[in-house]
Amino acid sequence: MECRRSNLCGTLRVENLGETVTLMGWCQTRRDHGGVIFVDLRDYTGICQVVFRKEASAEAHEVADSIRSEFVIAVQGKVENRIEGNVNPKLPTGEIEIIVNELNILSESQTPPYVLDDREQVEERLRLQYRYLELRHPTMQKNLILRSKALNQTRNFLLDRGFFEIETPMLTKSTPEGARDYLVPSRVYPGSFYALPQSPQIFKQLLMVSGFDRYMQIARCFRDEDLRGNRQPEFTQLDLEMSFIEPEDVYKLVEGLLSSLFKTLLDIEISTPFERMPYQTAMQDYGVDAPDLRFDLKLVDISDVAGRCGLKVFSDAIAQGGIAKAINVKGGSDFSRKELDELTEFVKVYGAKGMAWVKRNEKGWQSPISKFFSMEHQHDIEKRLDVEVGDLILFGADNPNIVNDALGNLRKEVARQRKLIPEHTYKFVWITEFPLLEYSLTDKRYHAVHHPFTMPNLEDFKQYGNSKPHCIRSVAYDVVLNGVELGGGSIRIHRQDIQQQVFKWLELDELEIKEKFGFLLQALSYGAPPHGGIALGFDRLMMFLLNTDSIRDVVAFPKTQRASCLMTEAPSEVPADALEELHLRVRQLPKFE
Ligand code: AMO
Ligand code: AMP
Repeated sequence: MECRRSNLCGTLRVENLGETVTLMGWCQTRRDHGGVIFVDLRDYTGICQVVFRKEASAEAHEVADSIRSEFVIAVQGKVENRIEGNVNPKLPTGEIEIIVNELNILSESQTPPYVLDDREQVEERLRLQYRYLELRHPTMQKNLILRSKALNQTRNFLLDRGFFEIETPMLTKSTPEGARDYLVPSRVYPGSFYALPQSPQIFKQLLMVSGFDRYMQIARCFRDEDLRGNRQPEFTQLDLEMSFIEPEDVYKLVEGLLSSLFKTLLDIEISTPFERMPYQTAMQDYGVDAPDLRFDLKLVDISDVAGRCGLKVFSDAIAQGGIAKAINVKGGSDFSRKELDELTEFVKVYGAKGMAWVKRNEKGWQSPISKFFSMEHQHDIEKRLDVEVGDLILFGADNPNIVNDALGNLRKEVARQRKLIPEHTYKFVWITEFPLLEYSLTDKRYHAVHHPFTMPNLEDFKQYGNSKPHCIRSVAYDVVLNGVELGGGSIRIHRQDIQQQVFKWLELDELEIKEKFGFLLQALSYGAPPHGGIALGFDRLMMFLLNTDSIRDVVAFPKTQRASCLMTEAPSEVPADALEELHLRVRQLPKFE
């Protein structure tokens, strides 16, 4: 047999009738129909039916009898029309089949640990253990192939616009992005460690100081953090940085890139420019800094009324400096008592003490709390929330963080339950004017909201710098899609004195500043251009492009929520001599699963 493949399985059509072809691939299924053997042969392009008949080749027919699922075979044969009744309109190759005259078994396969087609039905741990088999599934092939195209297009888009792709180190010093570092012990320097980068942040800034003007990198980042939802311990950022720019330049560039990706990969037009919304507005109206704008259900402040009403849980909360907010669920008065109780349990997860509710029926308020509100207050609340007969009002009163968190999440939950979220809709928004600092009650000091290199709003800096640093806004922005933070960036501090001041607010002492960031401060003293940039979470972007809720569907070899790889069994213990060489000793700890 010609031992080179002539065609790919999924590409043959009636136009190829009469051709002699050589195909190679995996046996998806084998069926024996009264002496005629049918094999669905699969490669990454699709499936082609190959047929073994004694008349065409007795030898091939005999060997074909031993083919099992996932055997790798090569066949040579003629492309023929399928007989009427055998045409499969669901397959692109469904009108033809290959009548085989030669067969070679290239590789045998054990019986797979699960039926590969049944991906959805099989426990994820098993699929992750045999990830190379799971990746044979057409969905996973489609996902990773689209990812490859998206990477390529992203790179080309930016290189066409004057960006340079520059790699930054993996073995480096800590880059503060708010997570724990993955550390790598040094053999040469006993007791010293490299950190894997949480992002290329400091290096990309240094590249601006070096004059590269526009940098991009499709960068692997490492963060030892809580892995709920759309996070992986190692993930990919589309990282970029530019000199002599304003936030608007970043917005335009990212809008252009995202619309080109959606257009070429999915043929979806997304409208630009994206909406812009200050952080304060997002928190006020949606309770979160990454609002989902596909549906309304805004949070409305009613603190003034709540402070004066007779309901103690409300008036006490306000008296203690808290706030009260409400949302109006249009037509929600049909919620049952049980459903309301479940929603009350739902908000408690976010620290709320309860969830007061009011059903607006023809006669007025139907609610355990109506007696605590005068008619005037009831009307006032109805006016603010645009309440009509048949609506349901849900309330939260507590400190601002709890109210926003609880009602922000309640808003999403109610929208989900009431099916208020339109499908196939992409609502992008830039969240701007984040605060520079946030106070941590646990650490009793300020943390940087974005990262310590973010430029403060200079007017705020002048006005509040000496007295109220927590009132300073930063020149930071996030791009949010359907309530998910897709990326974040900022204009950076390029002046040494401002950087020193921010470090001071973060209560880093002189020695710490010198040890951690001395080289950066020094670089800023040698002529640093004004610069800024952004990083997009590439895995999260792929989740949208592929319409999946699981980040593990867009990464070839992902880790579990407990940061382990079930296939390679990483992380694993290492031999004693390896530890010895690294000058490490491991304490005996209880074993974890
Ligand atoms: P930030 O920390 O906001 O910014 O990260 C940017 C984006 O990276 C994605 N991301 C993640 N994706 C998957 N798994 C994770 N564990 C994970 N963590 C973050 C998110 C996020 O929006 N250096 C700055 C960027 C800059 O200022 O230019 C940075 O890393 O989509
Ligand atoms: P109570 O007076 O504790 O019986 O509460 C009356 C109603 O107010 C119940 O529906 C509670 O779920 C609700 N509630 C209690 N605390 C709060 C709160 N902090 N915010 C909103 N509703 C609350």
